[in-house]
Amino acid sequence: MLKETTVTKQLPMLDLRLEYEYMKADIDSAISRCLDHQKWILGPEVSELEQNVAAYLGASHCIGCSSGTDALVLALRAIAIKTRGAEFFDRADQVITTPFTFTATGDAILRAGATPVFVDIDPSTFNISMENIKKYVSGNRGKVAGIIPVHLYGQACDMQEMVSFAMENGLFIVEDVAQAFGSDWKSKKLGTIGDAGCYSFFPSKNLGGFGDAGMVATNDGVIAELARMLLKHGGKDKYNVDHVGYNARIDTLHAAVLLAKLKYIDEFNSRRKKIAAIYREQLEGMDGIGLPAETDGCHHVFHQYTIRVGGGSRDLLQAHLSGNHISTMVYYPVPLHDMLVFKNGRAIEGGDLSCSEKAATEVLSLPIEPLMEKEDVLFVCAKIKDFFGIR
Ligand SMILES: Cc1ncc(COP(=O)(O)O)c(C=O)c1O
Repeated sequence: MLKETTVTKQLPMLDLRLEYEYMKADIDSAISRCLDHQKWILGPEVSELEQNVAAYLGASHCIGCSSGTDALVLALRAIAIKTRGAEFFDRADQVITTPFTFTATGDAILRAGATPVFVDIDPSTFNISMENIKKYVSGNRGKVAGIIPVHLYGQACDMQEMVSFAMENGLFIVEDVAQAFGSDWKSKKLGTIGDAGCYSFFPSKNLGGFGDAGMVATNDGVIAELARMLLKHGGKDKYNVDHVGYNARIDTLHAAVLLAKLKYIDEFNSRRKKIAAIYREQLEGMDGIGLPAETDGCHHVFHQYTIRVGGGSRDLLQAHLSGNHISTMVYYPVPLHDMLVFKNGRAIEGGDLSCSEKAATEVLSLPIEPLMEKEDVLFVCAKIKDFFGIR
């Protein structure tokens, strides 16, 4: 029986200090190596990280960069240069994605020169619906250039049909794997299934750095070479460039920290899964709450443990948990098609988007710190049950 007095502390969504303490020896010695060699730009840790991540993912090429957002832009720009022979996509080129994601997914499409097309999600997984993709493409033959599936909250999209559909229709696939590092689909690591996979190492991600960083993975040598040029001002030679590039390198220091943390990724992902299993065991079958779907082959690494709270009571439950010192988050309160940046003809609503709109009013992400004590998870569940009057 859980005692009311056992938990008086604040329960955060994530406790990065705790994680640092757990990995301190590895991280400190990685940082200290950088202090010794002083190679702050594209130092040896950058290529070591790229090689280690490529081996972990089973990808031919990994290219470290400054953020997950930049990874998406670099991949899209590289595909535009490769397939169109143009620096940017054209506004007439449409790229399908989900409106139920972080802004960066849609924003990267705009920054690569194309037009985002939002199609609705599957309400059970929160991931983009293949049926809706097919419907849009069949009504808009020749207009769509590619698809960006987002493996939201850490759960794999079903890639089977998407890959064959993309091949049949000559579409590229860039996977947004920002939230799903280490997850897989039918034993293939996410991010290695499409033409490119884009990862974020934002501090709160499953593999999170000490600042902004990201990575592009690809099995396509041309995309890899172009992405690598683009992140270094657009050329193989920094002083004689070919393309409209960026300064989007990953810092040596970030690469060093990520190298140290990479050793723990499987352990930490499996800790997340254990916490998710406790949430499921405790909350399953409760009226008014929907739990994350478990689908065949679509592995989940629980970047977020996101429940659905129906009947208009999500915000009340969030306030109740906050009153009990439990942090929660709403990812995401506004679907992309409702944001000003995607209005004024900049994006297309590819059909009815009501599942995304409904999800935005119902989702609530619960704390899922990999080093969280079981007692703390049970405390969160007990407070949720309190809210619904369940003893
Ligand atoms: C789904 C998704 N895509 C893209 C990004 C962008 O990553 P970053 O914050 O590293 O630029 C994020 C991260 O917040 C994300 O969650």
